Amino acid sequence: MNAPDPFTTLLDLERGSLDPERGVSETRLSEIMGMYLEEADGVEDTVVYRVYQIPVPTTGSNLLSSTTVIEPGVVGREYHMTKGHFHAVRDRAEIYVCLSGEGRLVMATEDGRHAVEPMSRGTVNYVPGGWAHRSVNVGDEQLVFFAVYPGDAGYDYGTIEKEGFPVLVVADESGPEVIPNPRYKTASRDEAR
Ligand code: PA5
Ligand code: MN
Repeated sequence: MNAPDPFTTLLDLERGSLDPERGVSETRLSEIMGMYLEEADGVEDTVVYRVYQIPVPTTGSNLLSSTTVIEPGVVGREYHMTKGHFHAVRDRAEIYVCLSGEGRLVMATEDGRHAVEPMSRGTVNYVPGGWAHRSVNVGDEQLVFFAVYPGDAGYDYGTIEKEGFPVLVVADESGPEVIPNPRYKTASRDEAR
């Protein structure tokens, strides 16, 4: 069965950090730069987001969970966002509970359908199996959310790195705007050079 003993973690509902801290990963601008339309030349290589994990065995009988904290900011007109991924086991679903900040959850299927759902304190987003997902911080504060998903879901980042999402969320004078991604399913900017 491979189940851990019962345990409890304290989640800081504002900051997203976990106590005890069992695993944190940081993603810097340099790691996701190729996913933006415009280059972030001359911009400091800051941390765009952190993920605080609650590790359990990665089997289908366990539930993995984590909090993600995305710093506010833009690259060109695009807001700070996660890399985005499909689950390696495609039919695995996920739930996001937003704790603070304001965001958009961009989702897409491999055949090009897309959905953009709101994220703000208290929203519970359901990511069905087969839908890639990326969260975007469209506010001035940190975007903080808690995620729960099957332990055997795994990550496929490669498909999104290669193809991108069908839409982008960009800053317009009137606020966040969803526009078609001109590079969808074409080479990434790095490859296009
Ligand atoms: O499980 C999830 O979908 C999230 O915890 C993400 O992994 C997290 O938000 C970071 O995004 P990404 O894995 O796309 O870098
Ligand atoms: Mn996921």
